[in-house]
Amino acid sequence: MRAIVIREHGGRDTLRLEADVPTPRAGAGQAVVQVHACALNHLDIFVRRGMPGKKTPLPFISGGDIAGVVAEIGPGVEGVAVGQRVLVDPALEHGAIGEDAPGGLAEYALVPAANLIPLPDRAAFDEAAALPIAYGTAWRMLLSRGRVRPTEHVLILGASGGVGTACVQIAKMAGCIVYAAASREDKLAKLRGLGADHVINYQDGEFDREVWRLTGRRGVDVVVDYTGAATWVRSLRSLRKGGRLLTCGATTGYDPNTDIRYIWVRELTILGSDGWTRLDLEALLRVVWSGRIRPVIDRVLPLAQTPEGERLLEEREVFGKVIIHPQE
Ligand SMILES: NC(=O)c1ccc[n+]([C@@H]2O[C@H](COP(=O)([O-])OP(=O)(O)OC[C@H]3O[C@@H](n4cnc5c(N)ncnc54)[C@H](OP(=O)(O)O)[C@@H]3O)[C@@H](O)[C@H]2O)c1
Repeated sequence: MRAIVIREHGGRDTLRLEADVPTPRAGAGQAVVQVHACALNHLDIFVRRGMPGKKTPLPFISGGDIAGVVAEIGPGVEGVAVGQRVLVDPALEHGAIGEDAPGGLAEYALVPAANLIPLPDRAAFDEAAALPIAYGTAWRMLLSRGRVRPTEHVLILGASGGVGTACVQIAKMAGCIVYAAASREDKLAKLRGLGADHVINYQDGEFDREVWRLTGRRGVDVVVDYTGAATWVRSLRSLRKGGRLLTCGATTGYDPNTDIRYIWVRELTILGSDGWTRLDLEALLRVVWSGRIRPVIDRVLPLAQTPEGERLLEEREVFGKVIIHPQE
């Protein structure tokens, strides 16, 4: 089969399209999925570059967000049939598909059958693949961990990315007043289109001043900050007394300078959130299949253009999700 294979960590030139990768066969409790859509995530870039303290089994195929058709089931698998349209929950007991086990940037992917979620007929592969990592993480961070409530003021940094656009949509659905920060005016216009009540260009770094101005010097109730080092202290400064800072990552670095005075003086709560549970994912899918949230897809690319897709993420040129079609 064709697959994007990482044989060594490094830049985008380490992403090689190979045509003779052995097609996986399903063992007991497993299924092989013919991958019709695989969404890219910033995680794919971290996996390709190599993460400190984390060993990736090389050669490796990344891509955790998989939607497709069941091609083969192994012995003992029940409740799922060959030919069924499915979404794959990337969460494993220890780790995730595309990070700790081979993923879907390939024509076929081997997954535990327990991770298959049947897709309703109306669900498109591209939209389904956009959901688990970005929307699942946003769902858990805002609703299960952050418990955002209607009328709360919520600031989302990096709002144009995969998790970011998901956060904007989910916070709006929850009845929040959304402040969306991004680095370019065209992204801000799109964020308004997505329902953001206020948009902030944080390119100059001083988004906390703008938050102070927009909230009449009160501050917001919640900040979503997964950009990390570049924004951390100003995120603390943007919060009102008793506010919550939610984080699920650190795109610009995990070791920021901080200023703990804000934490005690304003009685702030810092809440971490990692991935999603099956319950989070199922609740999200109900909302999406009911039509209340439509995942934001920037563009769809054939398998050979995976490096270009990762370039778009690395160079901050995307709005929402990039989807790869491994069959093309
Ligand atoms: N813990 C978990 O389970 C989990 C799950 C999913 C994601 N995450 C983490 O969440 C973060 C976002 O992931 P994602 O897949 O949504 O990423 P993404 O689609 O690439 O979006 C990242 C956004 O962050 C902003 N950004 C700010 N500084 C950046 C920089 N130096 N490089 C790239 N983008 C930058 C960009 O918007 P502007 O250009 O407008 O600033 C971009 O839209 C990552 O750190 C990821 O590892 C964690």
